[in-house]
Amino acid sequence: MTVAMQPRERAVPGSGPATAGSARTAAPQPPAAPEVRMPRHLLSAADLDRATAEHVLSTAQRIEQAMAGREVRKLPTLRGRTVVNLFFEDSTRTRISFEVAAKRLSADVINFSAKGSSVSKGESLKDTAWTLQAMGADAVVCRHSSSGAPQQLSAWVDGHVINAGDGTHEHPTQALLDAYTLRRHLGSLDGRRIVVVGDVLHSRVARSNVLLLSTLGAEVTLVAPPTLLPVGVTNWPAVVSYDLDSALVGADAVMMLRVQRERMSGAFFPTEREYSRSYGLDSRRRDLIAGHGIVLHPGPMNRGMEITPQVADGAGSVIVEQVANGVTVRMAVLYLLLSGESDGTASTVADAVSDAAGGLA
Ligand code: CP
Repeated sequence: MTVAMQPRERAVPGSGPATAGSARTAAPQPPAAPEVRMPRHLLSAADLDRATAEHVLSTAQRIEQAMAGREVRKLPTLRGRTVVNLFFEDSTRTRISFEVAAKRLSADVINFSAKGSSVSKGESLKDTAWTLQAMGADAVVCRHSSSGAPQQLSAWVDGHVINAGDGTHEHPTQALLDAYTLRRHLGSLDGRRIVVVGDVLHSRVARSNVLLLSTLGAEVTLVAPPTLLPVGVTNWPAVVSYDLDSALVGADAVMMLRVQRERMSGAFFPTEREYSRSYGLDSRRRDLIAGHGIVLHPGPMNRGMEITPQVADGAGSVIVEQVANGVTVRMAVLYLLLSGESDGTASTVADAVSDAAGGLA
């Protein structure tokens, strides 16, 4: 189903259509607002066209405004709904962020981690999915080491599935929170130059960001050693470079990627020191970006390898803000998927969020 992101129409005296005998000619109509197509599941950043991605980001902004200055940071919007955090792989930020987001929307939250569950006794993903289904999960937030696991899960459960990072494939809510952070500092991303640096080969964050940021009009440059670029990267909507210094000059933002040593079975670069020298972000390199430019990192960071502590904690770094924005953006995603708006049954977001704000305890 699609939902037009239109404000409720109000009758304006004298604005009705011309009737027979009327001398008035029809006034030119403004172009129709692009349709928002909220998917049933959020599995990939490619599930979001520009209008829908902007709708998610503007919803997050409205939620942030509705929550600002409130003593009780909770909206009743998802009362009675159940969100399951299904994490088969370690996580700090994403798991806690989804838990806080769901609780701030008053949903019931169940945290499931593979460690300590029947998965360690050999239970399959399908049997786990059926168990969640039987327990009435309205949404399943899934992280898995296998690319495609959330997609597979979506075929087995009736609830909405959100990909919280699958293998080296995608991490769409990370890209949304990154885009939200970028827009807070840079405004529109149209024509903005964003440099993404590091282990692109193993990075689901890079893949989702390239898709989403290019959808939002940004010009993305990927910088990595050739050994850490995936086959087919030239087909991605991004420029590829091996020269970090020249890519950084005048950039609006630089996003450093974690070197994922746990996914590396061979030698992808000579030494860590060599990697840092060629692809690490230190203060000299940070000063190459535009004066208004910002530094991002999805975390967890290898301090001293892909980024120095001075840069991670210094001027222009928005790494901590990314984490805070993650809660707001995930509230928007849960809200849009679960509130019924994607089925066309909810009122406009502006109404719903202000209703929710009015209903605060
Ligand atoms: N950015 C990110 O996905 O971090 P976690 O692995 O801690 O969730």
